[in-house]
Amino acid sequence: MAEIRSIVVIGAGQMGGGIAQVAATAGIAVKVLDAFPGAIDKCRGLHDKLLARAVEKGKMTQGDADAAKGRIGYLPIASLDVVSESDFVIEAIVEDAKVKRDLFAQLANATRAQILATNTSSISITEIAAAAGDAADRVIGMHFFNPVPVMKLVEVIKGLATSEKTTLRTIALATAMGKTPVPANDRPGFVSNRVLMPLINEAFYAWMEGVAEPAHIDEIMKLGCNHPMGPLRLADFIGLDTCVHIMDVLADGLNNDRYRACPLLKQLVAAGRLGDKTGRGVFEYGK
Ligand code: CAA
Ligand code: NAD
Repeated sequence: MAEIRSIVVIGAGQMGGGIAQVAATAGIAVKVLDAFPGAIDKCRGLHDKLLARAVEKGKMTQGDADAAKGRIGYLPIASLDVVSESDFVIEAIVEDAKVKRDLFAQLANATRAQILATNTSSISITEIAAAAGDAADRVIGMHFFNPVPVMKLVEVIKGLATSEKTTLRTIALATAMGKTPVPANDRPGFVSNRVLMPLINEAFYAWMEGVAEPAHIDEIMKLGCNHPMGPLRLADFIGLDTCVHIMDVLADGLNNDRYRACPLLKQLVAAGRLGDKTGRGVFEYGK
């Protein structure tokens, strides 16, 4: 199977930025696109910071960091035509089914890329693929975990029409990026968020019902269950907006009210408290 030499990442947020960094470090040329120029600048700044830190810690030579940076091109979304030159596209935009379907409909026209992968946390791959029409066999779920440079897993999810060739190339790319691909079926939230997100949601209910203070809920789960982060800290880290989107997909897809997002979680999102990315969610963070 031919090696994958270049990819396009659409969405330069925390996930798209992380995917681009890991791919570039693995020797793959990357173009990263975002609808908002501010997001592109932020992504570039974060890459500079993380690569400089890796050099300081002796994990990478300055030459390798410079080479990785040189492999990344930063572009506004207006340049969707660059996608046509790439073998492999990874979408990492907002967790909204309609916005993703619109993008995949455009991508199916804009590119002959062999693979159109989505980093969705929970949305049906089959539904996203349907928007790509004849290209549905080239659409697949390639679910990375946050922070991408640290987390080993890529959950690989086939839609109804996904071809074997698409699956094998996706597994090959994940492996080339130093990740461990593990398959899951196309059900709401797949495995990871079917299990993780209700736990996070329950922590919000525990807070709302006064079972304990947020810091104590987290401390109990960290020290009592050996989780690296408490569930409320993890929700801030993921993004509270993303958590609500995922719970909505679970509640609708599994048709069960026990998956409804906790009102307190929704209220924080309504207030613009999205977690780390806005500086405040459950907890407050410095700039
Ligand atoms: N980006 C890149 N690297 C990061 C990072 C980031 N945002 N945050 C931490 N790191 C790196 C650090 O540079 C450090 O690297 P070195 O060991 O090479 O020095 C390493 O991670 C450890 O960092 P720290 O010592 O600062 O902190 P820590 O030991 O507390 O670890 C953590 C931080 C790795 C984030 C850890 O707290 C953790 O594993 N948390 C849980 C993360 C998790 O559950 N992720 C899954 C979220 S769910 C998801 O992704 C799916 C979805 O669809 C929502
Ligand atoms: P984020 O909010 O950090 O970034 C999303 C980026 O997409 C933003 O920069 C935004 O400007 C851009 N964007 C939005 N609509 C766009 C469009 N139509 N075209 C181009 N760019 C657009 O979000 P994130 O946390 O990086 O999540 C991205 C995707 O990855 C979501 O599907 C999410 O569910 C999934 N995911 C998130 C995590 C996590 O822990 N945050 C983990 C795994 C998967």
